Formats: sequence, structure tokens, C-alpha cells
Amino acid sequence: MSSTTATTAAVTGAEGFIGSHLVEKLVADGHRVRAMVQYNSFSSFGWLETLGQDVLDNVEIVLGDVRDPGSVTGLVKGADAVYHLAALIAIPYSYQAPHSYVETNVTGTLNVLEAVRHLEIPRLVHTSTSETYGTAQTVPITEDHPINTQSPYAASKAGGDRLADSYHASFETPVVTLRPFNTFGPRQSMRAVIPTVIGQVAAGERTITLGDLRPTRDFLYVKDTAAAFATVGTAPAEQVVGRTFNAGTGGEISVGDLVTLVGKLMDADLTVREDTDRIRPAASEVMRLVADATRLREATGWAPAHSLEEGLLHTIEFFRDPANLARYKTDLYNV
Ligand SMILES: NC(=O)c1ccc[n+]([C@@H]2O[C@H](COP(=O)([O-])OP(=O)(O)OC[C@H]3O[C@@H](n4cnc5c(N)ncnc54)[C@H](O)[C@@H]3O)[C@@H](O)[C@H]2O)c1
Repeated sequence: MSSTTATTAAVTGAEGFIGSHLVEKLVADGHRVRAMVQYNSFSSFGWLETLGQDVLDNVEIVLGDVRDPGSVTGLVKGADAVYHLAALIAIPYSYQAPHSYVETNVTGTLNVLEAVRHLEIPRLVHTSTSETYGTAQTVPITEDHPINTQSPYAASKAGGDRLADSYHASFETPVVTLRPFNTFGPRQSMRAVIPTVIGQVAAGERTITLGDLRPTRDFLYVKDTAAAFATVGTAPAEQVVGRTFNAGTGGEISVGDLVTLVGKLMDADLTVREDTDRIRPAASEVMRLVADATRLREATGWAPAHSLEEGLLHTIEFFRDPANLARYKTDLYNV
């Protein structure tokens, strides 16, 4: 399969933050997209509702649920590639509702693998996360770093990863696992640190409420993450199938330094108020994440195209638009 022959891409989690950017990228690359939106009775299509009509003309929205095998089969039937992004992703909420994480992230992934296997879909991109590594034991983190799941979220994602590996080993299911490091950009929810800071400043706050300021992260701009997905979904099979790839920049910044940088970029004098509700149990907080994405670069040529500052400026522009800011509750801590 090559990028010119994959005409229909099925995407789970399409209405979400990364998923909606991936849909735009796939359409821009000439694919038609069948986009699963989690069933809801509000007729809400999430962020897909904000995409241009030129994009939506190439998107078929399918309401469904990855926990339901029939729903997944209907989505992927006839697709040339499946991008499986649907997941519950908030770490704090995974302390409260772990069963739903296993049902969505483990059983949901199993349903996708089964559908791809039985319908003989030629490519599945499964989404992992850098959280599966836990606090870095060696830096930068390669794909050979031990897996150390410090939250129910990370454990459920690693469970999905193990199933994906096992389907490749047992049935030669053509799965590629992409392991993005912390992704940020327009449309991200307020549970993540960058929208939390930028959203509060854009709403006029100068005292920013946050959790632990010490952890460091490797922040990847969402358009670079979307490009990594599209790349592994269309690269020649021998280069990517059966493999796991980190996607990250190789840079790292602490949450505290990030606040300083955002303050500078937004020309705002910020102070931070620590909110104990946002502090995670000590053994559950991942203190350091920084990627080695050499494997992905060598296999496909992918490299991030945006610096942290560039990505932050795009994100600031997004949150400064009142129509976008109105979609958020910047004064509410929503896990
Ligand atoms: N945001 C990051 O920094 C990051 C980093 C690494 C990996 N990831 C992974 O990327 C993927 C997308 O994350 P995101 O940041 O866009 O989050 P998101 O919450 O915006 O997107 C997740 C999507 O999954 C959908 N979903 C949840 N349960 C579902 C179900 N039962 N059936 C169908 N759809 C369901 C949600 O409606 C949502 O649109 C996830 O797999 C996540 O684990 C995210």
C-alpha cells in the first residue's frame, strides 16, 4: 500500500482533539474518511463540527462506540487503513472510573483488532502513549525503554498495546503502534496543562491554578502528531508493520518553565497557585518524559515541523478567539 492507493481511511476518536486534526490531514492528503463519533443523543459531532465544508465533503460521520463489536465492524468494513484513536485519556478520571478505561481502551482495542483481522483490512494504526513508559529511567526514551504503568490510564493503554503486538504475532494482523508524547494545540481539552494555562490567561486570569510544576514533558504540536499518524498509515508495510514508533521532539520542559514561557508569549505577568486537588499520588505522577524518535525518522523520514514556541503561538491564537474560548469552562477543573 502506498499513500496514493489508500482511498478510504476509517478513524476512531475522530471528533476528539488529535482525531479531528488527523481527519483534516487525511483529507488534505487525498483520502476519504469514515469518522467514528461516539454515539450521543445531542447530535454532537465534537470538533468535526468546526471543520471547513471542503473537508467535511470528504468525511462520512458514523455514530458508534468502540466497546460495541458490531459498531466497529461497520466502521472499518472496506477501509484501506484504520486509525484507532478512540480512548478515555484523562489520568485523574482513570482513578475514579477504571472499569470504563478497561472497557474502552482494552476491550475497545480488541474489537478494532478483531474487525481488522476478520475483514482483512491492510493497515491498522493503533495509538499508544508515552505514559506507558512511566518516569524515564533512561533518557531520551527509546521504544526499548521498560513499560511501567503508573496510572490506570497508562495500564489500560499498555493493555491495548500488548493486544496489538499479540495480534501481529499470532495472526499477522498488519498493525503499527504509534506512541505519541504529550501533544498540544488548538482544540485540546482543559484537562491538559497547556490549554489550562493558555485558556486561563486568555480568559483574563493572571493567577494560574495548576498541580505539580516539576514534571517535565516532551511537547509535540498536534499537526506534527497528525502527520506522524498519516505517515505510519501509508508507509510501505515492510518499513512499519509490526513495529512501535515513538513520536516526540527530543526536547523537554518543566511545567513551571512552560508557564513562564506562555506568560512571555502572551505578554502577561503570571503567578501560580498550586491546587492540591490537582496533585497526583506521588508514585503515580510521571516525573520525566523525553522522546527518542530516531526509529520513526529512520523508517519514514518523519520529523516535527514546528518548534514549541511556534506551536504555542498557534495555540494562543486559537484560545484568544472568543468563539473558541466560549467552548471552554476555564474556571472549572474538569478531570
Ligand atoms: N493528547 C495527548 O497528549 C496524547 C498523547 C499520547 C497519546 N494520546 C492518545 O491519542 C488518542 C487521542 O487522544 P486525544 O488527546 O485526542 O483525546 P480526546 O479525548 O480528545 O479524544 C479521544 C476520543 O475518543 C472518543 N471516545 C472515547 N470513548 C469512546 C468510545 N467508547 N467509543 C468511541 N469513541 C470514544 C472520544 O469521544 C474522543 O473524541 C488517544 O488514544 C490517546 O490515548 C494522546
